[in-house]
Amino acid sequence: MNIIRVADAKEGGKKAFELLKESMAKGSKTLGLATGSTPLTFYKEITDSDLDFSQMTSLNLDEYVGLPASHPQSYAHFMEEHLFKAKPFKAHYLPNGLAEDLIAEAKRYDSLLEAHPIDFQILGIGRNGHIGFNEPGTPFDETTHVVDLTASTIEANSRFFANKDEVPKQAISMGIASIVSAKQIVLMAYGKDKAEAIKALVEGNKTVDLPASSLKDHPNLYVILDEEAASLLKN
Ligand code: GLP
Repeated sequence: MNIIRVADAKEGGKKAFELLKESMAKGSKTLGLATGSTPLTFYKEITDSDLDFSQMTSLNLDEYVGLPASHPQSYAHFMEEHLFKAKPFKAHYLPNGLAEDLIAEAKRYDSLLEAHPIDFQILGIGRNGHIGFNEPGTPFDETTHVVDLTASTIEANSRFFANKDEVPKQAISMGIASIVSAKQIVLMAYGKDKAEAIKALVEGNKTVDLPASSLKDHPNLYVILDEEAASLLKN
């Protein structure tokens, strides 16, 4: 695990963008992308740059069940607003949270992942250590699946909705098995709300209680932390 300490999210976004540029220079063609407030500075670096993404393909980690792409809190909308509108990709995919048959949709997404193995995966982390929407307890060999969101995640994400009741109760998420199979992974964490999860990731054991710990022995993992997120670490 390579830990990179930064002053703030702005510097973290720049570091992650440098890693992406190196990876693209070596021939990366497929990006795994994340939503949430954490990757925003990274997307800003991309959209401010003149780097060409027209030959790149991306697959997002997850989507809420029940929200149309036009809903301001859908992850499809988030990606359009923060990245794709300014930076066209060859193709970009997200799970379809409106699919009538969600199990079939999960299978479709796994086929896409098989056709487009991820070279460079961006990740945030939930306060409870979730990655994508893989909540504590998710087996590490899980592929794309439908998730019942935990109370802690609904609470954390309610800040984006008018109230807690409007937060979808389910999501469809890429599984841990797909995430860890990415060739390179860059996880970013900013702020004191993430400090406990980061301490458990860096200093704790691999356990399904902390989904991010599945990444621990990945050969090409970078963890970018601001001071608050790193504040509980021993060194
Ligand atoms: C959501 C997303 C995750 C994200 C997490 C943290 O639940 N599904 O992919 O990492 O929230 O969000 P934030 O970056 O806003 O703290």
